[in-house]
Amino acid sequence: MKVCVVGTGYVGLTTGVSLAFLGHQVTCVDLDQQKVDMLNGGRCPIYEPGMDDLLAEAAPNLTFTTSYTDAVPGADVVFVAVQTPSAPDGSPDLRYLRSAAESVAQNLDHSFTVVVNKSTVPIGSGNWVDAILRESFAQRAERPAGCEFSVASNPEFLREGNAIHDTLFPDRIVIGSDNPRSLEVLNQLYRPIINQTFTAPSFSPRPDDIGAVPLVSTDLASAELIKYAANAFLALKISYANEIGQLAAKVGADITEVTRGMGLDQRIGSRFLQAGVGWGGSCFGKDTRALIATAAEYNYSMPIVQAAREVNERQRLIAVERLQDELRILKGRKIGLLGIAFKPNTDDLRDSPSLDIANLLLARGARVRLHDPIAGERFRREQPALAPYLSESLDDLFDDCDAVVLVTEWAQYLELDWSKFVGLMRTPILLDGRHVLDADRMARLGYKYLAIAG
Ligand code: UGA
Repeated sequence: MKVCVVGTGYVGLTTGVSLAFLGHQVTCVDLDQQKVDMLNGGRCPIYEPGMDDLLAEAAPNLTFTTSYTDAVPGADVVFVAVQTPSAPDGSPDLRYLRSAAESVAQNLDHSFTVVVNKSTVPIGSGNWVDAILRESFAQRAERPAGCEFSVASNPEFLREGNAIHDTLFPDRIVIGSDNPRSLEVLNQLYRPIINQTFTAPSFSPRPDDIGAVPLVSTDLASAELIKYAANAFLALKISYANEIGQLAAKVGADITEVTRGMGLDQRIGSRFLQAGVGWGGSCFGKDTRALIATAAEYNYSMPIVQAAREVNERQRLIAVERLQDELRILKGRKIGLLGIAFKPNTDDLRDSPSLDIANLLLARGARVRLHDPIAGERFRREQPALAPYLSESLDDLFDDCDAVVLVTEWAQYLELDWSKFVGLMRTPILLDGRHVLDADRMARLGYKYLAIAG
């Protein structure tokens, strides 16, 4: 099939590259010329494991352009995957979506094109985009005869750092439209994934236990709500583990044992129960906020989602208070933060717990150093106010440090030769912000091991 993808952020790029890898003819359009040049040169502008390799394998079926005119005409499916940042009141800013829809409408010429909302958009956006498309199409001086189009929603569930695996081997595919023809086109598009008929790339092997991928083919509003409901549920699952974690600390229980015991119940499941400094990233914060904002439009409150947000915010403060309880005085203390990215295997810093913890510590007079195996360069670019506190080396971070906090559980930190650094510290306090280090081992090495819960 002929596919156009508008926007080459995490979602758009992964969608475009994966569909081209599966054999579809894909053109990705992005207004950023520099990004397009990079991608046409086979270089990936984001840090995502395996993406460079997939880009190379998909290259024969894949083009990048800044021109809608090169990308939209003739497309069976147009994915719109532009950014939808939060406006100051928490509602998503839909400027980019509007302008993308207008540009798509100016270039539609095919007998039937499905225009798919792939960005996480507020519930009802399908109808909104449909109206913009029809308005802009009607304003065209020349409208191709027999040109039809319809809007669908196809929410994305990939995790950054696992984008390729999650796209090729998803738990499910959700498509929503009020037009059966659109659903049929998308069903065809995703056949190779649904039936798992493609040869898996060597760098992302097919899981042994994967069968046919379930397809949820539904109406527009349900597909849109599934995305928010799923993300909010994952966010509140983590917040629940963190809330129990603080109680565990008070009653003398071990939160990792508690969540293990809970997670083995298949109705609960063990994933997304990892207690620690809490969730960050571009999705959970934005989506829980948007869900609450949508509900408010209907004069409806969402206390569970609200509480998940509050608990998450509190975790960052708890990290600082654990240090304060231990050191008594934070003023003048040197605190090292290991990890700046919001989670491992990405250089994404959006809503990263590390940034908040750094700012809270600085506000209390501490001297802060931050280190990250990958995100340092992006940190310098995107966080100019914090950039002077970047440590290029672990020696620099640990040297004369009063406490170190493991904020992002990068493999490099888990596999660190911790014995090498303990002697560099002024006081060897180690706060494990993710409950991933072996407490006994760290104590044997000479660290005073602290956990967020406990
Ligand atoms: C999340 C969802 O998992 C994806 O399904 C969804 O497609 C994506 O948002 C999106 O809407 O675009 P992502 O934000 O990339 O994906 O990362 P996650 O792996 O979900 O992690 C989110 C945050 O939760 C990270 O800060 C992570 O450290 C934290 N986390 C995760 C925990 O604190 N505990 C856990 O047990 C799991």
